Amino acid sequence: MPKKIKTIGVMTSGGDAPGMNAAIRAVVRACAYYDVKCLGFYRGYQGIIENDFIELSPRSVKNIINKGGTILKSARSDDFRKKEGREKAYENLKVNDVDALVLIGGDGTFTGGLIFSQEFDIPVVGIPGTIDNDIHGTQFTIGYDTALNTVVEAIDKIRDTASSHNRLFFVEVMGRDAGFIALNSGVGAGAEEILIPEENIGLDSLVDSLKRSKRSGKTSSIVVVAEGDRTGKSVFELAEYVKQHMPEYNSRVTVLGHLQRGGSPSCFDRVLASRLGVKSVEFLLDGQRDIMVGIENTEIIATKIDNITKGSYDINRELLRISDILSI
Ligand code: F6P
Repeated sequence: MPKKIKTIGVMTSGGDAPGMNAAIRAVVRACAYYDVKCLGFYRGYQGIIENDFIELSPRSVKNIINKGGTILKSARSDDFRKKEGREKAYENLKVNDVDALVLIGGDGTFTGGLIFSQEFDIPVVGIPGTIDNDIHGTQFTIGYDTALNTVVEAIDKIRDTASSHNRLFFVEVMGRDAGFIALNSGVGAGAEEILIPEENIGLDSLVDSLKRSKRSGKTSSIVVVAEGDRTGKSVFELAEYVKQHMPEYNSRVTVLGHLQRGGSPSCFDRVLASRLGVKSVEFLLDGQRDIMVGIENTEIIATKIDNITKGSYDINRELLRISDILSI
């Protein structure tokens, strides 16, 4: 018989993502609804190790559904990778009578949580929060939709100046390992070329394609480059390479960087975060543990963390084809 859960700890860990606050709010209010105490730990696992927390009531999470970032702050804890760090964390949870944890973050966060749960018998439930959307077990992660909209808005602005000056723009977007942001924002913003980590189109084919575009009458072009693209070149080196092969083009580089992680969450992310937050608490109270909540075809599902870290996610390759056709 699993222990009755009276206190839940919640934290945000890894790269922050818009909508994390909406998820915290949902966890806190679901706890209150089911008469469970909720403690918010600051800076992810590091806050648990340092016993840095706040008791959260429904009113303490007012006016945050619309805020980017995370009121609990976020970090990647090196101490938690070590057994001593996890022991310290467990001691603090015991002292504060914390029976279970809700972890808002990415797969690194969940991997740490699973080890912790197995070592100290603390049930954990993960909520996927990362702008990269690269988590197996959910079609969408919290923050991805907002980041996409931010990127598309930025590229729309770049398009104005690119077209006024007949320039070729290379826009680097986030995605160290995954091309979701590049691919979807690229199609959404009408980019000519999209470079992603999952597919190597090759430098020659990039140049050929840009030359074809120019011959067809295009006076400006936009190339969206995921930071982890497979060309092996930085976005600046890439621009330089193309310049050598197309000296007639005046090119510029924009690195969108961390602005993609900020801003008020989109309605989609707020609703997703609210649903996942409530469900995470309900799953814990139902006796489920070591799972991540996710969304699949509009339904909230649970997947064992073990399968999430082993499984892989898939980008939509059809979008590459669509992009090719539309950039004619
Ligand atoms: O949040 C995910 C991510 O944005 C990656 O795409 C990026 O490479 C990374 O975080 C950078 O994060 P940081 O600067 O916090 O290490």
